[in-house]
Amino acid sequence: MNIILIGAPGSGKGTQSRLLIDKYNFVQLSTGDVLRAAIANKTDVGFSAKSYMDQGKLVPDEVMIALVEDYILGQKGKSVIFDGFPRTVAQAKSLDLMLEKNAAQIDKVIYFKINPQILVKRLTGRRTCSQCGEIYHVETKPSSKGHICEKCGGSLVHRADDREEVIGERLAQFEKNTGPTIEFYRGLKRLVEVDSMSEPDVVFKEIEKVLALANKG
Ligand code: AP5
Repeated sequence: MNIILIGAPGSGKGTQSRLLIDKYNFVQLSTGDVLRAAIANKTDVGFSAKSYMDQGKLVPDEVMIALVEDYILGQKGKSVIFDGFPRTVAQAKSLDLMLEKNAAQIDKVIYFKINPQILVKRLTGRRTCSQCGEIYHVETKPSSKGHICEKCGGSLVHRADDREEVIGERLAQFEKNTGPTIEFYRGLKRLVEVDSMSEPDVVFKEIEKVLALANKG
């Protein structure tokens, strides 16, 4: 089964991806994580993506589509969580074509509905493990080891784009580009909404219900 997690920055896509991977047989493609790794490794893709990401803008479709196409080739037969891709209608249409080549399709698109007013607090307080990617929050999910990850001992970092001045642009990009993508999937009757204002374990149960229904066909 292939699913897309779609929602505003900070709506909880990464948090739920990790819960799904812990319990089910999914692999995750987080395009944000792939881009951040490319920047850290100083690759050409990372070099061109950095200026867009630092400003809260989307990386151009051609770059993202090529990147995902490469990834999908190696995932034949696996269940993939697409986290942060697609974000534009052009990306969504390309993804269908790429999956067709693997005789696969998107089974469900899970939309994380949230009141935008609470996103700034979620993002400015987020801390991420630089080694294993575990996601924390300084108030709602602090690490018991301070600036160190409870799971792997890595150091926790504050993402460069989680500053208030960048978050506004990320939210504007979400409205402008990902809003129409959500409507695209709604039109195809693949979209299911979950309330991502609830506690993470409650959101997770909602997602599990969606997956159980999708499995029944
Ligand atoms: P990306 O890394 O994908 O960022 P994003 O989509 O903005 O999403 P986030 O990772 O910020 O949030 P999330 O929904 O995963 O929330 P999380 O679970 O961490 O993209 C970054 C950039 O890369 C983009 O701006 C763009 O430049 C580029 N890019 C990436 N993909 C692209 C594409 N396809 N096309 C073009 N450009 C692309 O949670 C956030 C915080 O809230 C955490 O602290 C967490 O603990 C807390 N939290 C989570 N759930 C809950 C809950 N239920 N209740 C309370 N707190 C919660």
